Amino acid sequence: MKIRIAAATAGAVLALPASGALAAELNLICSADVVICEKLVAEFEASHSDISVNMVRMSSGEAYAKVRAEARNPQTDLWWGGTGDPHLQAAADGLTAEYQSPLLPDLQDWAVEQAETSGYRTVGVYSGALGWGYNTEIFEKKGLKEPTCWADLLDPSLKGEIQIADPNSSGTAYTALATLVQLMGEEEAFTYLKSLNANVSQYTKSGSAPVKAAARGEAGLGIVFMHDAVSQSVEGFPIKTVAPCEGTGYEVGSMSLIEGAQNPDEAKVFYDWVLTPEVQNLMPAAGSFQLPSNKAAVASEHAPDLSQIKLIDYDFAEYGSSERRQALLSRWDSDVGGRAAAE
Ligand code: F6P
Repeated sequence: MKIRIAAATAGAVLALPASGALAAELNLICSADVVICEKLVAEFEASHSDISVNMVRMSSGEAYAKVRAEARNPQTDLWWGGTGDPHLQAAADGLTAEYQSPLLPDLQDWAVEQAETSGYRTVGVYSGALGWGYNTEIFEKKGLKEPTCWADLLDPSLKGEIQIADPNSSGTAYTALATLVQLMGEEEAFTYLKSLNANVSQYTKSGSAPVKAAARGEAGLGIVFMHDAVSQSVEGFPIKTVAPCEGTGYEVGSMSLIEGAQNPDEAKVFYDWVLTPEVQNLMPAAGSFQLPSNKAAVASEHAPDLSQIKLIDYDFAEYGSSERRQALLSRWDSDVGGRAAAE
């Protein structure tokens, strides 16, 4: 039984066990959906009564920026979830610590490859492919044609109907940017994104927000990870999930220990716990339909089947490198984001 006393400073929480002795703490950034973030914290605290978790939910790019800003005095111990590219960038920047979990041999090859690429400063926790979800009722009412290819999203009939996140804050949107560059080449990808801008009503902060807006009828279509579109249809919203015909990219959602963390031992306890099949199996009931990284975990029947989707050979080392990610984001700001803001 723990008692939490909120201190005057925002974000600072002192945790005391009933006995009055100081409980161990873990400061966690969670970059997946808030429902699974809260579920993991509740389950972890229930099974580890000596560790109290302070969790903050942040999109992948925002989380990277926080970890970077705190480099000299880390306030975070562990970063779970979010797309792999910013985790790889953090690894290359020396912001995250090397760790080889005893569970590494139990993980899928793609999860282990992510660890190897980073010199064991990050590891894959789940995977999922990029696509979009559209509101079938809105499309039917407006007489819009189902967009099955990236090219279809440029159709003038979709003006104002599309939402996608801002790739600076969102790992989903950065995955979209890097995917288009890999599919088309950089020049053509930016020409595409500038044309797409005419149909985009909003660049959101979080990656899954666009399809949540489409589910509520506030947008026609959201470019998101397919599992985020699926979770809306599983909830009963009229959302159809599409895998783009030209091919698409995917994420290796990742986890990293922070270099110089104040609570490295507690962070490792969570790290090993969250890689177990039992914990990964909690995800579908929380509406998270990514593919789990532990080979013994069971993928939900709703999880998009990656073997049926035309996937590109996403170059994680290149697009997760500091140089490439920074350069693409700067170009997006000047060529796309700046234009959107000026309109
Ligand atoms: O909603 C879950 C999810 O799509 C994860 O699979 C992914 O890692 C994360 O969100 C990305 O969120 P964001 O785009 O906000 O960084």
